[in-house]
Amino acid sequence: MRYAEWLNQVKSTNDLALTFARVPSIAVPLLIGADLQTAGRGRGAHQWWSAEGSLMFSIIVDMPGVGLRPADWPRFSLVTGLAIADALSLFLPSARIGLKWPNDVWLDGRKVCGILIEQSDLIPDRLIVGIGLNVNNSFNAAPHEQRQTATSMIDASHGNEFCRTEILIAFLNEWESLIEDLSQGRLNLPERWSRRCVLAGHPVTLSEGDRETIGVCSGIDDDGALLLRTEFATEKHYAGTVRRM
Ligand code: BTN
Repeated sequence: MRYAEWLNQVKSTNDLALTFARVPSIAVPLLIGADLQTAGRGRGAHQWWSAEGSLMFSIIVDMPGVGLRPADWPRFSLVTGLAIADALSLFLPSARIGLKWPNDVWLDGRKVCGILIEQSDLIPDRLIVGIGLNVNNSFNAAPHEQRQTATSMIDASHGNEFCRTEILIAFLNEWESLIEDLSQGRLNLPERWSRRCVLAGHPVTLSEGDRETIGVCSGIDDDGALLLRTEFATEKHYAGTVRRM
């Protein structure tokens, strides 16, 4: 990472990165992180709730600059989740770390990290990769519903705190090496994904706008598409929200 800026508090690191990304002369890749967000955003219309102790940042990436064409972008999104999962396993070697397509990271059966990728409106070659990883923010005192679906690294390790800078560096190393492999055409993504896929073999519902598709997940295709075995065929899906039934 060439340039970085860390703030105490911001509305949303993705919003700030989107503003910076409109400026042609800004030096990229640029990482913007914050200790607190007051209006963090998730995918779709969701908010991203995050307490002190979580790791939140956004990176502006010039896609041609890292050797990736638009056809690679779906895989780039998946590779980002994979890099988080691989980095986490360095710190929690015996935990169950999984991936839920397209790029949610699960820890011991609950979501530990969300990724929001957006495109700059003025310079469409620039993508903003926003990452929220629950590190030292415990969910023990959170409402019951949240505890059922979300977790953090401190919860998975019974109170052990982690250094967020070390985790950030581990992620950046994994990510850079996966991006390099992807751009050089030497990444076997379906194989890497299958080791962590939490959907494979499960009946799932995929919602995309008004449309719902029910099928059994059979992993991902070479191009990053989700593979769903429906009653009639194996379908490829590039967008949507999927949930296990
Ligand atoms: C999701 O819905 O799973 C994606 C959540 C992404 C949250 C991160 S936190 C840093 C960055 N800034 C935001 O406002 N959102 C992303």
